[in-house]
Amino acid sequence: MNPGADSLGPEDVHLWRAHVHELAPSAAQIRSTLSPDERDRADRYRLSKDGEAFVIRRGLLRAILSRYLDRDAGAIRFTYGPFGKPLLDPDEDALSFSLAHSQDLIVCAVSRRAALGIDIEFLRPLPDLDGLAARFLVRQDADSVRALPMPRRLAAFYTRWTRQEAYLKATGAGLTAAPAAIDAALDAAGWKLETLLAVPDYVGALVAEGVDWGVSWLDWPLNGSARG
Ligand SMILES: CC(C)(COP(=O)(O)OP(=O)(O)OC[C@H]1O[C@@H](n2cnc3c(N)ncnc32)[C@H](O)[C@@H]1OP(=O)(O)O)[C@@H](O)C(=O)NCCC(=O)NCCS
Repeated sequence: MNPGADSLGPEDVHLWRAHVHELAPSAAQIRSTLSPDERDRADRYRLSKDGEAFVIRRGLLRAILSRYLDRDAGAIRFTYGPFGKPLLDPDEDALSFSLAHSQDLIVCAVSRRAALGIDIEFLRPLPDLDGLAARFLVRQDADSVRALPMPRRLAAFYTRWTRQEAYLKATGAGLTAAPAAIDAALDAAGWKLETLLAVPDYVGALVAEGVDWGVSWLDWPLNGSARG
């Protein structure tokens, strides 16, 4: 498969995964594809390593989208939803995307579905797991995490967390929205959620409009043929 516009059918969600440490040596070249406002944003991070990580994420997003839009990475224009969700101009490009990162991993979902949200988390040990579950998960989910034996609690917590986040990212509300009962909300909207377990030590979730879609994983760079 040569992933791009021709290979992205209405039932496809392409899920790209990339590693920050592999892209970091090209950060200066990647930065040249960013828009002036994105470069300003990178420079405003308090820690330069966080600014560089943003450059890598945004440059990767541009490079991936350029495969589908048949346009140079630097020529892609983003608009922003009320809570900061980056979007393509729907009058120009009928394509949706969602990006998430945690530790060294970046994942980027691309589809023709109008609503799309992804989240991933590295399984970093948490000192007060039950407290965090009570604070950040809906009651029912927090209770089911607490009911599990200890070794399974961490992955269960993060799985539920990423489900919530992926849903909120699909709606564009981000963390400003209160956690909701995801299953009921998905049913009501006619959306589907998939739990993602394709990368060791990480869990994730993907939400997209409709129920008749499937995921293909792709690695970036693709056989070294990445367009910059
Ligand atoms: C968006 C948000 C969910 C990101 O979560 P996170 O776990 O820190 O980071 P992730 O890696 O999962 O996702 C980050 C990506 O999500 C996307 N994103 C940003 N805001 C988003 C939103 N509201 N909805 C969906 N996606 C969003 C961007 O592509 C971002 O990548 P970037 O940092 O390279 O620009 C979280 O920061 C949030 O809720 N922000 C809300 C913003 C907000 O409340 N602003 C208040 C002013 S109105």
